[in-house]
Amino acid sequence: MGAQDVASGECDGSGTAVQDVLAEVLSVEPLPLPYYALHLKVPAAFGVSAPGQFVMAMASPSELRLKPFLRRAFSVFDQEPLEGATNGERHIQLFGKIIGPGTSSLAECRPGDEVAVLGPLGVGFTLPSRGRAALVAGGVGSAALLLLQRALSERSVEHDFLYGGRSTVDLAASVTFAELARRSGGRYLPSTEDGSTGHHGLITEVLAEGLAESRYQHVFTCGPEGLMRAVARLAAAHDCPGQAALETAMGCGYGACLGCAVQMVNGEIQLCCKHGPVFDLAEVSW
Ligand SMILES: Cc1cc2nc3c(=O)[nH]c(=O)nc-3n(C[C@H](O)[C@H](O)[C@H](O)COP(=O)(O)OP(=O)(O)OC[C@H]3O[C@@H](n4cnc5c(N)ncnc54)[C@H](O)[C@@H]3O)c2cc1C
Ligand code: FES
Repeated sequence: MGAQDVASGECDGSGTAVQDVLAEVLSVEPLPLPYYALHLKVPAAFGVSAPGQFVMAMASPSELRLKPFLRRAFSVFDQEPLEGATNGERHIQLFGKIIGPGTSSLAECRPGDEVAVLGPLGVGFTLPSRGRAALVAGGVGSAALLLLQRALSERSVEHDFLYGGRSTVDLAASVTFAELARRSGGRYLPSTEDGSTGHHGLITEVLAEGLAESRYQHVFTCGPEGLMRAVARLAAAHDCPGQAALETAMGCGYGACLGCAVQMVNGEIQLCCKHGPVFDLAEVSW
């Protein structure tokens, strides 16, 4: 099944109309740093995001500066109506890891600052209506999977959340992921390379065990490319369908710069921002 095919009872992952808005910073929550949650107030016009969709964001857009020159891509981590709002304003959360000027300037925001937010963008996950799912996250790649967890829970689709990192600090936001997985009837399965939390080793070793037991009928993943490639190989070896939210570097986010090309198995080139970021695991040429 292609990530963009819509079978009976399945959701196609596309969202509402794209808007370019100035969002007000409500707070920046260290998870702890270098990981953080950026809480933003967006106007009613800003669409509801489908799981796997993303935004292009930049802090203090009115300041003239060269770093970062371009907006950066962020998954919509969470969204809800803004408490107490009477005019339809909503609260969205981005989940970042400081690695360069874009992610650090957002982490340095103060309440009341403005952030330029373009979105929701791209095509998100195709949701199954039955079967058990494995959600495999590597570090900050987990940002793409919380809305997916919520959507699976609404459809009563049981899921395990497999969360891998180098060390415990890389498993930021684990409490929420664990709670939602357990509430669905599934398990929270962390792993760290240094053995500080959960399985001592790679998260793909945990996935391999579950697949060998025929525990999963769907695999969803987001994280470093090496992780997603390994997940794709394992899923293929066990004949398990799956989808990945790619994090290909982006210039514009909406198909204009052609900077986010993804090579597909059938020889086609697709744009991560426009045709993805979610792709069928079996269709990407890893
Ligand atoms: C659809 C999508 C959703 C994303 N969601 C999130 C998210 O929710 N939270 C989050 O923190 N990040 C997310 N990212 C990744 C983030 O947009 C990039 O890492 C971005 O370049 C960071 O900007 P920066 O200015 O902080 O660092 P940059 O200066 O852009 O990069 C710093 C260093 O990281 C390397 N780098 C940049 N991008 C990537 C990449 N994609 N993979 C591997 N290495 C890279 C650069 O080569 C450089 O060495 C997402 C990316 C995409 C495409
Ligand atoms: S980021 Fe510009 S075309 Fe995809």
